[in-house]
Amino acid sequence: AEADRIAGRIASQAIERGDFRGRKEQTISLFSSADVGPKRIILVGLGKAEAYCDETMRRSLTAGLKEAARMEISEVNVDLDSFTLGRVNSIRAVELAAETSPLALWRYLRYRTEIKDEEKSKLEKVRLLWTDADDPGEVEAVAIRAGAVARGACYARDLVSRPSNELYPESLAQEAREIGQRHGFQVEVLDESGLGKIGLNALLAVGAGSARPPRLIVVDTSPKSAAKPVVLVGKGITFDSGGISIKPAKGMEEMKGDMAGAAAVLGALDVLGDIGWQGRVVGVVPAAENVLGPSAQHPGDIWSTYQGTTVEVLNTDAEGRLALADALAYAVKNFEPSQIVDLATLTGACVVALGHVTSGLFCTDDKLCDAIQRAGDLTGERVWRLPLYEEYEELLKSEIADLKNIGDGSAGAIVAAFFLKRFVGEIPWAHIDIAGTFWQPKAKSYLPAGPTGVGVRLLVEALTRQL
Ligand code: BES
Ligand code: MN
Ligand code: ZN
Repeated sequence: AEADRIAGRIASQAIERGDFRGRKEQTISLFSSADVGPKRIILVGLGKAEAYCDETMRRSLTAGLKEAARMEISEVNVDLDSFTLGRVNSIRAVELAAETSPLALWRYLRYRTEIKDEEKSKLEKVRLLWTDADDPGEVEAVAIRAGAVARGACYARDLVSRPSNELYPESLAQEAREIGQRHGFQVEVLDESGLGKIGLNALLAVGAGSARPPRLIVVDTSPKSAAKPVVLVGKGITFDSGGISIKPAKGMEEMKGDMAGAAAVLGALDVLGDIGWQGRVVGVVPAAENVLGPSAQHPGDIWSTYQGTTVEVLNTDAEGRLALADALAYAVKNFEPSQIVDLATLTGACVVALGHVTSGLFCTDDKLCDAIQRAGDLTGERVWRLPLYEEYEELLKSEIADLKNIGDGSAGAIVAAFFLKRFVGEIPWAHIDIAGTFWQPKAKSYLPAGPTGVGVRLLVEALTRQL
């Protein structure tokens, strides 16, 4: 109706002719010859009204923005009311749109020195328009928050995109220092000699083959606070070749993103700083490069971990759990966490189970589990809980040490979670396996092919609104 009013029945005609059926994510561009009002109008389909949900808004808006970008438009006005079907209030609509737009338009051009003019996005401003009279102050606050959340997720995508010749343990630590400086967080980085002194031997073993030694990165948002922190642990393997138990060549480059858990944690901390979150959060990132070299660990090696538990390494490609074991034990021993949440690109088995759609959730505390599940549903970064029945734990019994680092091949994602559980003790804990969700093989609306930034939106929602 609005397009018709501006430009004389152009939208009705497109619909009558069958050029536009309002199918999900369908777009059509109409051109107005009227003297006033917009010259170009993009209609976007929402699909079936019965199926409308938050994701409809995200995806249809993305379709519209991509069409605008294709048309090389520099500014676009979004008639938000027309995207809501009256199902969401203006505050939520603004939040969804402000969060989705940067994600939809994100591209990674850092390493491109030649960019053709037609490749450059000219879309610089997305203006959101709505009519209902919700509290404007609240709408503005929500829009600012959504912008920060989107920036954090895009930052995580950038980090995952960075190749391992540039992003290695020390340069990842430098990223954390910069985040700390921006927000006044305390950042401590343990280098290889510091790690050796206090015995994070499992993390050191993972990084032993590399010329770029491991780091333990610790970021505390309020170091002077007496409050028990929520500790976020992110797997920070800056490249995973598998080590001596080497991976096949095909697709190995994707393993530059084996630090996506770390990227999610750093991205979330950056967002918490931006929005001025007052709660105490500590991020812990074990960072290492799992490659081959004369001093790389061997299958059969046995390490005494920071916790004291001994681990027999039967597959050097099951390195994430070794690095995380020391990081989790470090968090428990040094921070008295109220809760621990870890994110890790941990197992191929999780990709088999849940594909690229859903992250695996393992949890020892129902309240924490509910918070993360709700956050998943609200952000679209969905999680699905998998069981921690004690029968699985037997698979990790070693003949010669306390634990071995692989099971028998069955239930791989659960067995990996059980390995981690040994290092957490009694503290409420959630483990999120993002091996399938950190990277999309094919573009899916606001998730381009490649890194997704998964975990940032989920963590911020869980921490600030659901816990
Ligand atoms: N980083 C990988 C898991 C992974 C696979 C992440 C695919 C993203 C996409 C992890 O370190 C690994 O190699 N896990 C092994 C464990 C196995 C040796 C028990 C796996 O899943 O094959
Ligand atoms: Mn591995
Ligand atoms: Zn790995």
